[in-house]
Amino acid sequence: MPPWTLLGVLSLLLVVPDALAVKSHDFKTCSQAGFCRRGRALSARAAEAKSAWNSPYSLDPASIIIASNKAVFTAGVKSALYPEINFGLELRVHDDGVVRVRMDEINGLRKRYDEAASWALISEPQISEDITWTAGKKDIKAKYGNNEVVVAFEPLKISLLRGGKEQVVLNGQGLLHMEHFRTKAVEETKTEEAEPKPEEGAEDAAEQVVMKVPEVNPRAWFEGDTEDDWWEERFSTWTDSKPKGPESLSIDISFPSHGTIYGIPQHATRLALPTTAGDSPTFTDPYRLYNTDVFEYLASSPMSLYGSIPILHAHSADSTVGIFHAVGSETWIDVAHPTDKSTTTHWISESGILDLFLMPGPTPADVFAQYSALTGTPVLPPHWSLGYHQCRWNYISSDDVRTVQKRFDEEDMPVDVFWLDIEYSEDHKYFMWNEKNFPDPVDMTNDVAALGRKMVVIVDPHLKRTSTYPAFQEASDRQVLVKPPSGEGEYEGWCWSGSSSWIDFFNPNSWDWWKAKFKTTALKEGWSWTSSTTDIHIWNDMNEPSVFNGPEISMPRDNIHHGGWEHRDIHNINGMLFSNLTSQAVQERTDPPTRPFVLTRSFFAGSQRFGAMWTGDNLGTWEHMAVGIQMVLANGIAGLSFAGSDVGGFFGNPEPEMLVRWYQVGIFNPFLRAHAHIDTKRREPFLLEQPYKGIVKDLLRLRYTMLPVWYTAFRETSVTGVPVLRPHYVMFPKDPKGFDLDDQYFIGNSGLLVKPITTKGTTKTTVYLAEDEVYYDYFTHHAYRGTAKGKEIDYTAELHQVPLFVRGGSIVPTRERPRRASSLMHRDPFTLRVALAKAGAARGELYLDDGVSYAHEKGQFVWRAFEAATAKKTVRVASTDLGAARPGAAVDGIALASYDAGNKFAESIADVRVEKMVVVGLSGKPASVKVDGGAELVWEFTPGVAAGGKGEGVAGVLTIKDPKVRIVEDWAIIIQL
Ligand code: NOJ
Repeated sequence: MPPWTLLGVLSLLLVVPDALAVKSHDFKTCSQAGFCRRGRALSARAAEAKSAWNSPYSLDPASIIIASNKAVFTAGVKSALYPEINFGLELRVHDDGVVRVRMDEINGLRKRYDEAASWALISEPQISEDITWTAGKKDIKAKYGNNEVVVAFEPLKISLLRGGKEQVVLNGQGLLHMEHFRTKAVEETKTEEAEPKPEEGAEDAAEQVVMKVPEVNPRAWFEGDTEDDWWEERFSTWTDSKPKGPESLSIDISFPSHGTIYGIPQHATRLALPTTAGDSPTFTDPYRLYNTDVFEYLASSPMSLYGSIPILHAHSADSTVGIFHAVGSETWIDVAHPTDKSTTTHWISESGILDLFLMPGPTPADVFAQYSALTGTPVLPPHWSLGYHQCRWNYISSDDVRTVQKRFDEEDMPVDVFWLDIEYSEDHKYFMWNEKNFPDPVDMTNDVAALGRKMVVIVDPHLKRTSTYPAFQEASDRQVLVKPPSGEGEYEGWCWSGSSSWIDFFNPNSWDWWKAKFKTTALKEGWSWTSSTTDIHIWNDMNEPSVFNGPEISMPRDNIHHGGWEHRDIHNINGMLFSNLTSQAVQERTDPPTRPFVLTRSFFAGSQRFGAMWTGDNLGTWEHMAVGIQMVLANGIAGLSFAGSDVGGFFGNPEPEMLVRWYQVGIFNPFLRAHAHIDTKRREPFLLEQPYKGIVKDLLRLRYTMLPVWYTAFRETSVTGVPVLRPHYVMFPKDPKGFDLDDQYFIGNSGLLVKPITTKGTTKTTVYLAEDEVYYDYFTHHAYRGTAKGKEIDYTAELHQVPLFVRGGSIVPTRERPRRASSLMHRDPFTLRVALAKAGAARGELYLDDGVSYAHEKGQFVWRAFEAATAKKTVRVASTDLGAARPGAAVDGIALASYDAGNKFAESIADVRVEKMVVVGLSGKPASVKVDGGAELVWEFTPGVAAGGKGEGVAGVLTIKDPKVRIVEDWAIIIQL
């Protein structure tokens, strides 16, 4: 029995979603959200009116001001329906070709929330110096390279073109509608009577619309004829007071040249987003972005989940473009494909300005670079955090933690991190240990750290409202807690800790104070976590925020944050601020700072800068195992590569077959953590019977051998933004057969292709090879050959096997010595697996640094290229330095220093060697194998066995034993055939 107090137990039984069968009815459908209903009704009216539909929004050419830097213009926009209301439009072209489109109501009754971008962006983007807007009679244009942006005046329509072909079109369907602020009519309910009197001449403007639809009120024709949930809205037992009235924003964004779209995580669905509108849609509701704690979420649904990133990729064989909408309020997105080769989307947000970034691509890599330039690249995490994380709700005492660690060691299973869920704390007052069960937290952590491991401890954002809890009391004294709708006092809600309040991280006064709480030493003023050590890192959960007795298990939308903004305005950004500040806190515990690890459940655009995420409370079902892969891929598209799903499934007791397959999924997730609900049976891998136990041990060891691959891939994404897990459309953008693939993917640019098995009782699968290249089975060296048109191969993977291939042309560095923890591998030798392409060449990279500090930013790293080339009867495998030769220091932001010039990290591994080289795909037995200029090496050759023609069958494999070359040095190995 976990150490809950009686009150705690009672409160949990009363309100905890986990204790009830909470289902979809706890969350709104579009038809239950007033603004979404209004947005969809608008699009239904447009569909019905067909070509008679006319956007009432137009740009006033006389108001255009082209700024002195010429790549920026502003102009006034009017709606013919409300001529007395003014909107301002601004377009900017950035130096990388991204177009930013902002529209806001000018001098309205109130101010729309316009700060979402300030939380998401890393800095103010650079405006192009070369691009000039040119205004004509009907439009204003800017041309650059192959791209062109055209803003048509009447009706307002914004298009991004490439090679004269429309790529992204805003308001092409006339669904733009920014509901302006209005005054609530006291007695009247009729729209027209509630409105201020139109200015002189306004009727003429409205006429333009009326002309096309005689005999109806143009406002009603466009907007509907009821004040549908304008001023108050009910859902279940809650009432949202909506003091600002209607302020939603609708905009259609079309991709006339792209038939597939990806992104807008987080949803449990396919990577290529299924339709929600048009003819026979897959889902009947739009995709929802509203961070929520959804109990037992469905494995296939457009419902919102814990995090929201409003970014889309639209893709075709010709090009990829992206859009990012910096909006923090609830947003619904309808998706339709009018044809196979085009896509329309309709975005409906509850509040905020239009702040759209059009990313012109034209390749997926370009879009990743453009998005990273806006919101930042993913953080380079501590190396240990790429190892195996063992979690459950809960390890119940410090002795429990010690025993679990001992069992891993007895079984020789690698693990890097032990986790503590909420029951470590006294009455769910985070930081405060339950002293009965955790009497010696520092000693416990030191016992874990002594074996080279770390701990992660949960700190949730709800603060128990009691004066005996310093975190709450200090926050209350500083007045940094979220306020109720009145704007006075402290909002009180219910969460694990019972009656709780939430820190308002939008209030800068909370920042330094929160960071100080994580100091492991005593402060001059205030409380700090002296009963912890710097080997403890942090898990931020429930930060949507989850409020058990709130609407949709979250905070009331009319709560008040810093600056007077309502919670509705910033809801989707809220969770990111918590992990942002927590990661800064963990980073700043030491001087000099060390890399923090913070796991977050809730996230927004920019969260990639602060740590890892996981897919929340998945179910122990095969469907959830499979959709977890798709969700992790989608997160990668949106910048958040450091992602994973709970291995084993959070709810339920997976049978051994499922658990084994789930570990096969997990070891190929960037973030690898097993976790389980408090009601589940213990299922640490050492508890499995044989043969399952042995299989999982081998899988964990496989993950550890591949840490060099993972770390190299993380370094790359931390510089380029290209995700760690790469779906087919990213690798082969021109191959339409791969556009829908989301059950197989590549790891970084390592050439490793994996397709985990995610169905029960299955050993047979097919793997798609997109190119005319050889792919080797990672374990057997069996060579498979793809074709230029793409080919599916049949593959059998018994329970102990996972389909894993090396793409011909790759060199994969691994460390094959089994270790208890990754920190013990620092000086281990390397194995290089050289997988020759059909033309005999191969290439690979290896990035290393100390894994914990920021010394790599000052050049303390090792970055190698391995290259194999075949010429006549010689194969030459060479190692060269990428760090010193790299020209892109300014681009990458990493100072360069060759490691022979005082690179202490390189010195620390100066004698680390390559202990084995395996060359796969040699046509025959070599005559000699030498280090260039050296003596003959010890090697053996296993000849290939042809099967199936065209180089298929088991490949010839040369194994060079201990070539004695060092990883930090340049060398070449010459294989004479
Ligand atoms: C919800 C989280 O999603 C889950 O992982 C955790 O175990 C529980 N909260 C308890 O903290």
